[in-house]
Amino acid sequence: MFLRDNETPRVPLPTIIMPASKLSAASVTICLLVLLLGPSQLRARHGTTPNIKHIVVGRCYNYITLVNPGLRFDCEKVWRHFEEAVSCQSSCNVTTRDYHQLFGAVPQSWPCDTLLLWSKTRMLMHSYAAVLRHHWTLEDTLVGYMFNNLIWCGREEDSGFDFHSCPEWSACSDHPVYSLWRQASQNFAEMACGNVTVLLNGSIENAFSRKSMFGSVELDGLNPQMVDHVNIKVVTDLEGPFIESCSQGSIVDLIQNLRSRGFRWTCTDNDQTLMILQCVQNPELSYCQTHAHSLSHRKMSTFE
Ligand SMILES: *[C@@H]1O[C@H](CO)[C@@H](O)[C@H](O)[C@H]1NC(C)=O
Ligand SMILES: *[C@@H]1O[C@H](CO)[C@@H](O)[C@H](O)[C@H]1NC(C)=O
Ligand SMILES: *[C@@H]1O[C@H](CO)[C@@H](O)[C@H](O)[C@H]1NC(C)=O
Repeated sequence: MFLRDNETPRVPLPTIIMPASKLSAASVTICLLVLLLGPSQLRARHGTTPNIKHIVVGRCYNYITLVNPGLRFDCEKVWRHFEEAVSCQSSCNVTTRDYHQLFGAVPQSWPCDTLLLWSKTRMLMHSYAAVLRHHWTLEDTLVGYMFNNLIWCGREEDSGFDFHSCPEWSACSDHPVYSLWRQASQNFAEMACGNVTVLLNGSIENAFSRKSMFGSVELDGLNPQMVDHVNIKVVTDLEGPFIESCSQGSIVDLIQNLRSRGFRWTCTDNDQTLMILQCVQNPELSYCQTHAHSLSHRKMSTFE
C-alpha cells in the first residue's frame, strides 16, 4: 500500500517466517499483544521495513533495467543520498529539504496529457491506470516505485535506521516518510503539462480535502501555464453512499480554486469506465447484475 494521503498510515501486518513448531506460540504471542496493546499501539511498534536497503536498491535496478530501460541513474548513489537524509536523524526530524540530493539524483519528466492524480481512490486508481495505459501515477516515478509500501525512520544516538519502531505520521511535523512523499508529490505535480486527470471519491465527505496530499501539495503545484485541462472524475462506490459530486460538497471548492487560478477544467460524475471497472472487481453487486443484463439484452436485440 502506498503511504500517501495525509492520514494515519495503514501499516502492513508483520510477516513472520519461522519453523512450524514455533508458529503457534508466535501466533499466541501476537494475539496476546494485540489484546494487550490494541491495534493502534501495535501499529506504532513497526519500525523501518526490514531489508530496506536491498528492497530499495533492488527496485531501483529493476526500474532502470526493466520498467523504464534507458534511464541512467546510479542506484547505489540514490541509496546513499537516502541514507544520508534519514539515518542519524531523530525520527521526527526529516524535512523535504533533507531529500533534495536524493531527488536531484533522479530527475524525471513525463509526456504531456498523462498524469493521473487521486485522493482516497487508491484501489480503483490502480485498475484505472492499468486499463488506460500511458497514464502515470506517482508510483510510476522512480522514487514512487522504490519507496512504495515502505516505512523508515532514523536513530539519532546510534547511526542507521530504527528497525524497532517508528513514530506515527501524526506524531511529528517532519516525519521522514511523509516528507519524502510530500516532496515526490510536489515534483510530480509541478511537471504536469497538457491534460491532468484527478480521481476523487464521491462516497465520502470532503472528497477534496485540503489535508490530503492532493489538496495540500499537488493542487498548488499544478501550473496553469503548462496545464491545459484539469479533468476531474468523481467516482462513488456503486451502491453508495452518494455524498459528493461535481455540483455538491467539497468538489465545488476545488472547481472554484481551479477557476480562480485560470485553469480550464471539466468534471464528470460516474465515468462509465470507472463504473465498469468496479463491476469487474465486484461482479456480484446488484448494480452490475442489472447492467450486465441490459448489456446482454442490448446485444441480443442487435442480432435480432
Ligand atoms: C533537527 O534537525 C536540525 C537540522 O537538521 C537540527 O538543527 C535540530 O537540532 C534537530 N532537532 C532535533 C529535535 O533533533
Ligand atoms: C471511497 O472511500 C471509501 C472509504 O475510505 C472506500 O471504502 C471506497 O472504496 C472508496 N471508493 C472508491 C471508488 O475508491
Ligand atoms: C484534454 O481535455 C479536454 C477536456 O476534457 C478534451 O476536450 C481534450 O480532447 C483533451 N486533450 C487530450 C490531448 O487528451
